[in-house]
Amino acid sequence: MSAVRDKVVDFVDVEAKLAARSLKWGVDPDRRPARETALGPGQAGVIPAWVAEHDLGPPPAVRDALRRLADLPDVGYTRRSKDVGPAFARWAEQRHGWCPDPGLIVPTSDVMQGIWACVAAFSGAGDGVILSPPMYPPFHELCVSTQRSELIWPLRRTRQGWVHDIDELASLLESHPHSRILLLCSPQNPTGRIYGLESLQRIVELADEHDLVIVSDEIHADLVFPGVRHHPLLSLPSAAGRTVSLCSPGKTFAVSGLRTAVAVFGSEEMLEGFRKVPAQLLGDVSRAGSEAAIVAWETGGEWLDSLLELLGGHRRRVGEIVSGFPDVGYHPPEATFLAWLDLSATALGADPAETLLRRARLRLFPGHEFGIGGEGHVRLNFGTSSALLEEILRRLSEALRG
Ligand SMILES: Cc1ncc(COP(=O)(O)O)c(C=O)c1O
Repeated sequence: MSAVRDKVVDFVDVEAKLAARSLKWGVDPDRRPARETALGPGQAGVIPAWVAEHDLGPPPAVRDALRRLADLPDVGYTRRSKDVGPAFARWAEQRHGWCPDPGLIVPTSDVMQGIWACVAAFSGAGDGVILSPPMYPPFHELCVSTQRSELIWPLRRTRQGWVHDIDELASLLESHPHSRILLLCSPQNPTGRIYGLESLQRIVELADEHDLVIVSDEIHADLVFPGVRHHPLLSLPSAAGRTVSLCSPGKTFAVSGLRTAVAVFGSEEMLEGFRKVPAQLLGDVSRAGSEAAIVAWETGGEWLDSLLELLGGHRRRVGEIVSGFPDVGYHPPEATFLAWLDLSATALGADPAETLLRRARLRLFPGHEFGIGGEGHVRLNFGTSSALLEEILRRLSEALRG
């Protein structure tokens, strides 16, 4: 039976958020001083809608688990992380009809650690790693920091939205025989695109022909809107021998600060290959992260359903407002709580995120940081309460009207 506590609450306590010292809500030593990002009384301050983290979690059951942990008389060494893989496998089956083998799941501190470790394990210096911009900004550091060669398979914008041209991937592979790793972001950040089954099948065929390892970042997999379906790459039997998928409770349940994710391997051989990275370099996930991930995956289904319902309404609202501005380019995301807005034809200038921060006190993620195709764009996070979203959209509209 469902209980109120199993549903998301459409409310953001701004004061509590400001006190929580999260990156999104104000503590960012690399960028602006914290006071700049403070949303003050009467919402006079800057509203943060930049980091890809929603404001609506974590679910009560996860918070209870963390409270129980704080009350334990002993938080010494533990093997609790061994339960993370099986909990994820059950979640994957219930949520996505995908049955990963719990024995082929390795907890990692986060998705990025898993990706970097896969690049270290499955490629060597100078090997080609294929990226698909516009994409999550830290991916652009991948090849520089690992001395790999960056190959670009860009997303293309069509009238229907952002798409991958698989023929372009085929040509890229023909001309770059040293390609070794294909990094997929599925669902895609920042565009919120889902990969269709047919596209994934073709990608796997090409990976077979060119002996690629596919590293599939599926961190946004649970946040899919009605009418489309996310296909976990490893649910395709043909992908098993060459795929690692990185999954996490971070985006779904807003627990990224607890640092727990999983690397899921398609075969014993792939897992064996990953073991090249010494376990001590990876470390183990924390007790708090393990508890949060396990409880979220074991109990979070209903809460997630209600979150998706709320986010679906928010997506509709963004669409309604943006459709009033013909200069704004927008394709509603199929997944994620991110709206990728092309503001290059508006009067907001070459760096619209900067203009919006100054003029509208709205902090969005600057598109140019996502690489090729991101210029003139901003990424707006609509994963917040209805009240805050209305204020975000009001400020955006006012700035667009000039
Ligand atoms: C596509 C994608 N991958 C990875 C990450 C980072 O995940 P983690 O904190 O688990 O490394 C993010 C965070 O925004 C993301 O959007």
